Amino acid sequence: MSNATPASRKILVTSALPYANGAIHLGHLLEYIQTDIWVRFQKSRGHQCHYVCADDAHGTAIMLRAEQEGVTPEELINRVSQEHQRDFSRFGVAFDNYHSTHSEENRYFSELIYKRLRDKGHIATRDIEQMYDPVKGLFLADRFIKGTCPKCHTADQYGDNCEACGATYTPADLIDPVSAISGATPEVRSSTHYFFKLPDFADFLKSWIDDGHVQPQIRNKLMEWFESGFNEWDISRDAPYFGFEIPDAPGKYFYVWLDAPIGYLASFKNLCERDGLDFDSYWRRDSDAEVYHFIGKDIVYFHALFWPAMLHGAEMRTPSAVNCHGFVTVNGAKMSKSRGTFIKAETYAEHLNPEYLRYYFAAKLGSRVDDLDLNLEDFAQRVNSDLVGKVVNIASRCAGFVKKLGGGRLSAECTEPQMRERFITAGEEIASYYEDREFARAMRLIMELADEANTYIADKAPWALAKEDGREQEVLDICSMGINLFRQLMVYLAPVVPAMAEQTASFLKLDSLDWNSREQWLVDHEIAKFKPLMTRVETDRINAMIEASKEDLVEEQKLKEAPKGPLADDPIAEQITFDDFAKVDLRIARIAKAEYVEGADKLLKLTLDLGGETRQVFAGIRRAYAPEALEGKLTVMVANLAPRKMRFGMSEGMVLAAGDNDGIYLLEPHSGAKPGQRVS
Ligand code: MSP
Ligand code: ZN
Repeated sequence: MSNATPASRKILVTSALPYANGAIHLGHLLEYIQTDIWVRFQKSRGHQCHYVCADDAHGTAIMLRAEQEGVTPEELINRVSQEHQRDFSRFGVAFDNYHSTHSEENRYFSELIYKRLRDKGHIATRDIEQMYDPVKGLFLADRFIKGTCPKCHTADQYGDNCEACGATYTPADLIDPVSAISGATPEVRSSTHYFFKLPDFADFLKSWIDDGHVQPQIRNKLMEWFESGFNEWDISRDAPYFGFEIPDAPGKYFYVWLDAPIGYLASFKNLCERDGLDFDSYWRRDSDAEVYHFIGKDIVYFHALFWPAMLHGAEMRTPSAVNCHGFVTVNGAKMSKSRGTFIKAETYAEHLNPEYLRYYFAAKLGSRVDDLDLNLEDFAQRVNSDLVGKVVNIASRCAGFVKKLGGGRLSAECTEPQMRERFITAGEEIASYYEDREFARAMRLIMELADEANTYIADKAPWALAKEDGREQEVLDICSMGINLFRQLMVYLAPVVPAMAEQTASFLKLDSLDWNSREQWLVDHEIAKFKPLMTRVETDRINAMIEASKEDLVEEQKLKEAPKGPLADDPIAEQITFDDFAKVDLRIARIAKAEYVEGADKLLKLTLDLGGETRQVFAGIRRAYAPEALEGKLTVMVANLAPRKMRFGMSEGMVLAAGDNDGIYLLEPHSGAKPGQRVS
């Protein structure tokens, strides 16, 4: 596919649709960056490539989240969609369209596909028994039920497995089950559910999976699953549910995972309407277009079984391939909120250049499903030595001489035609690596070329020649060669570092860094003044990002502990006994000192006087208070909270404040209260 420029292909590409109830984090970004690099590469090669995505907006979790925040589901999903799109654009993830599964196009295609399946007999109904929350009036998914483990008797375990002993069971096996939403004892109730008859498609799926549409590792996993046989898929949920009602089935809704992949169609349809593209030529059975889904390994079954079966049953084409990636770990472990390695896209972007991350992911990504470790030391070292030390270095060594000796114009001739040819030819091999999603190999090859360019310049030592008389042309020739080699490298790197590529284009006064543009050598061409294209990763900024991620955790817990809205409607506030409450040692404290904390955007360091004893507490109230305004004031603190180690020091307790998005208000007792007095 990738040798010589193939005829223009029609390609549709998707990334998984992120849930509309949470922030984008670095784990998500692996997928969107991987996809975006591949799409930018295809566009650079001149193919007609469309990249669509959307928010996955339906389901119980989103319904409950909205309720908890005291907003409608529509308000929640609109807000989150804005946040997601802002995060993606900061990381250079350039969708051609970003839509929502809660859209008219999606309702249309969900109904269409459902009706086609139903009319061909692929839908069954039967009654099933399920746990029901009589207080909230809704059926409970397993993860919304808690109780005591039937095996080891550990309390407070979820409905499907025990975190203490690892036992798996059904919610009905739990001892003293309660609804995690209302705390009520669930009842078993029966209701009619709709099922997609997946076994009807067993033969189709078997040959589809064998036909190279999934990676070998995934094929093996799916084959194991085949051997154990598979069941009909439950595609309905009872009201109340945030989603689409099933046609002819009042009170029954499509399960979120039914309409989620259909969201790919919906977003693309929305794009087609806007840009005048022919939707059917992409999705009809005999389409000559290519369709690729990029996903994480946790959602393979939905994309490699249910989805192709649904499409096939609805007489539509199936994906050309499902490209699956592994999970991001940070410093060798699962992303962890308490270690500060659960890093939100937003928090990262406040501290570090997003293109560092794009490069690092590219430098480690292959076509396999392996997990990818973001080792923060390696990250800094890799970006500094490759992008800054090798690539940018070429331009910064040469640009000054071109300015000085050529008046900003490159030589009229290429003096190293063999080297030029080698750099151009290497583009074919690099392209084939991109095409095959072997980004790490592509980056390695590009860096080998960068080494070659640096060696050439070092050997010629233009800075030494420049000191000799009459060698100006030679120096200009060497540096013009250097600038041209740098340009080749930036053509090859552009899909990975688009912002840096854009700056390069303006430095080199070029309209495009498209793949084929590398074949025209820049001779007698004017370039602009050189500005540093990328600065080094600083370890301080990485540390600050980790600390800020720990602060994010503190804020989240605050939100959880103090949800908006009247308590009566609050699905989270559980009742506690007086004894539970009495365990909390609340004390009056005098704020003896309040200070900014260097490197922490949200924290103040408070020294609290408890009437003899002093405590140091870090509080996330910097947004609301200047330190001077707090000194001398009385407040209420939790005095027996286990101390927490933060980068800035120990936090030995917690002060109480009311707060939400509108503001933060520290609690203050009436006058006369004394430091150290117990609050009860
Ligand atoms: N809403 C579903 C997808 C529906 S697609 C029709 C979903 N959403 S998600 O927000 O949980 O995840 C979105 C994508 O990010 C998924 O492909 C998921 O695998 C990926 N990742 C989420 N966490 C990840 C890591 N820690 N590492 C790598 N990818 C991760 O699933
Ligand atoms: Zn157990």
